[in-house]
Amino acid sequence: MRQKIVAGNWKMNNDLWEGMKLASEVVNMAKDEVKGQVKLLLIPPFVSLKSVADLAKDSTNVFVGSQNCHEKENGAYTGEISAGMIKSVGAAYIVLGHSERRMYFNESDELLAAKTDAVLQQGLTPIFCCGEQLDIREAGTQVSHVTSQIEKSLFHLSAEDFKKVVIAYEPVWAIGTGRTASPEQAQEMHAAIRNHIASKYGNALAEEISLLYGGSCKPSNAQELFACKDVDGGLIGGASLNSRDFIDIAKSF
Ligand code: PGA
Repeated sequence: MRQKIVAGNWKMNNDLWEGMKLASEVVNMAKDEVKGQVKLLLIPPFVSLKSVADLAKDSTNVFVGSQNCHEKENGAYTGEISAGMIKSVGAAYIVLGHSERRMYFNESDELLAAKTDAVLQQGLTPIFCCGEQLDIREAGTQVSHVTSQIEKSLFHLSAEDFKKVVIAYEPVWAIGTGRTASPEQAQEMHAAIRNHIASKYGNALAEEISLLYGGSCKPSNAQELFACKDVDGGLIGGASLNSRDFIDIAKSF
């Protein structure tokens, strides 16, 4: 069965103390309230990564990841952080290619292919983000846009490596806007992504990949989104900053 995942991308929010408070609340509530096979991920800013990972160390359903990494292992790249460093503090996931990184830091498909390799090389799980801007959706070319992002950054991987990747579909027009994709729009894209993966790696492998939806996902709409056949969870921004909301989303399967 595909892994169900609800990941909280804190973005540039929460200092160390705020982050530790939120992480402890989530770890405690997840223990009592989140049953079954759902994995929760906390994705804090780098400075809180070690402390949040320590808080989640004994949890059976809360794991930790970072929001980005550099593509090189080490070297003279002032201000950057490698996948190996992230691994060393106890994080197991790395988000790559979030639309904010593509937009504000000019991350290209090629760069994201290199970052994916760097993450896999450390034995960590990449959460690869893709999604179209509003003008692309209005032009009706969203499926080819998204499948091309996946193809350019991930299709060089062997089947064995591709199997380790989690993909998050996040329509840019839905991120932080309060405007969510409808369940039909989410399902249509997720099915198209899975078909595209199947065309390269075969049906059996495509069926194993966890595909998350992201973009204004909250307790009031998570249930209808997670009920879609090809939606295996969510990448949550704003609503992950509140432990009650985040846990309620995780209980929406
Ligand atoms: P949002 O962000 O839930 O605040 O829309 C989602 C994301 O950017 O991952």
